[in-house]
Amino acid sequence: MTDPGRYSAISTINHWVTALLVVVMLVLGFAAGAAPSEAIAEYVMAVHISLGFFVLIFVAWRVMFRLYEGFPANVGPTAMERWAAYLVHRAILILLALQVVSGPMYLFTENECMDVFGWFSVCVPLESLSIIHEPMEWIHLNIGIYVLPALLMLHFLGAIRHYAVDKRQETPSDL
Ligand code: HEM
Ligand code: HEM
Repeated sequence: MTDPGRYSAISTINHWVTALLVVVMLVLGFAAGAAPSEAIAEYVMAVHISLGFFVLIFVAWRVMFRLYEGFPANVGPTAMERWAAYLVHRAILILLALQVVSGPMYLFTENECMDVFGWFSVCVPLESLSIIHEPMEWIHLNIGIYVLPALLMLHFLGAIRHYAVDKRQETPSDL
């Protein structure tokens, strides 16, 4: 049985697969934003959307699994750091869920499909909800460009401190 103070093996796989996918999605998003021509921006965005289909499925599974399994107690030398880890971990998952919903909703509300590498397309005609098209774009861009990168930086600094400081104190929770 899983020790309630530790992350399970499935959690560890989920953590690192998501970390890889989300970093690639951020890089593709930023690369599209900084593309030297409209054609290149469109091509990079098409890859962002195609991979996004799989990221959507994986994030949904990962969030559901975390809700099912619960979060192990956070570790850290001070109550403030444990509280910060508690908030940042939940915020990252909530923002990822918003991100994988707002991306497709942005497309569907202007009657565009999610084309997945030319293999197949996912179309949900939601033009009737065109009033939320711009709010979806606003949410997606602000989370993707500012909020998520800032939280991931905090998370990364926290992880370094965790490996450097907590490890010496033999604390159980880890990934
Ligand atoms: C080099 C990069 C990373 C390192 C070293 C790292 C390390 C860690 C560690 C050690 C924990 C457990 C914290 C604890 O014991 O309380 C953790 C949890 C977590 N990390 Fe990361 N992480 C990295 C990147 C990421 C990325 C890119 C994401 C999001 C896309 C992410 C999302 C999470 C979440 C949501 C948790 C909470 C537990 C869970 O649901 O998996 N991490 N990370
Ligand atoms: C964790 C997952 C995701 C992250 C981190 C992410 C990140 C980003 C970022 C940073 C941008 C900004 C591009 C710019 O600089 O202008 C962007 C744009 C965009 N993303 Fe995502 N994205 C994610 C998931 C998705 C998914 C699943 C879709 C599915 C369709 C999607 C569709 C789009 C679209 C259509 C835009 C362009 C919006 C516009 O033209 O204003 N994204 N994304």
